[in-house]
Amino acid sequence: MNNILEVIKKRRSVRMFKPDKVKKEDLEIVVEAALYAPSARNLQPWHFTVITDEKLINEISSLAKAAMTADKNSSYQQRAAETNFHVFYHAPAVIIVSGEESSPWAQADCAAAMQNILLAAEALGLGACWVNLFLFAFRGEGGEALPGRLGIPEGYRPLYSAALGYKAQDNLPVPPKKKDCITYL
Ligand SMILES: Cc1cc2nc3c(=O)[nH]c(=O)nc-3n(C[C@H](O)[C@H](O)[C@H](O)COP(=O)(O)O)c2cc1C
Repeated sequence: MNNILEVIKKRRSVRMFKPDKVKKEDLEIVVEAALYAPSARNLQPWHFTVITDEKLINEISSLAKAAMTADKNSSYQQRAAETNFHVFYHAPAVIIVSGEESSPWAQADCAAAMQNILLAAEALGLGACWVNLFLFAFRGEGGEALPGRLGIPEGYRPLYSAALGYKAQDNLPVPPKKKDCITYL
């Protein structure tokens, strides 16, 4: 059993993946960890879409790229224009976390589930990156059909995603952390 504090401190966003498929057992462990996140009033207002279909992952990335290119904000346009831009960094697996629209705490609950996903991935030796740019895919042309195709239930909306795969590089060193953000009384 990994020491949770070691895993928390070692975890970094990983953006380079081996092309190997992620083992189904590993994906199941990661999603199960998400289910153990706390949620307000234990409503568990989440839904998880686990995607390992490379064509679909690439399609979501392409839709996001097109919508970023058409965005008014030039920083999104520039990002989309980067060589080999892929919103999920060509990860072989993606988990999309959707939240129940009627739940006032769904964003916090789903964010807690996301952190469990990232930590479980690190504990298994998988690389992972929290990716929100994928949300552009739902805005552009072709995006309206995506929720249905991704099995997102009626009344839920996509909030966050994680790109997952076996690491193609070691975790980068942890950057300095802010120290002046704590008040002890
Ligand atoms: C809400 C949220 C959205 C993020 N969206 C993206 C994203 O779209 N693409 C990306 O490469 N990283 C994304 N990240 C990862 C952050 O860039 C990363 O966590 C941050 O730079 C700190 O680095 P670390 O995760 O290695 O500690 C996101 C992180 C969070 C919490």
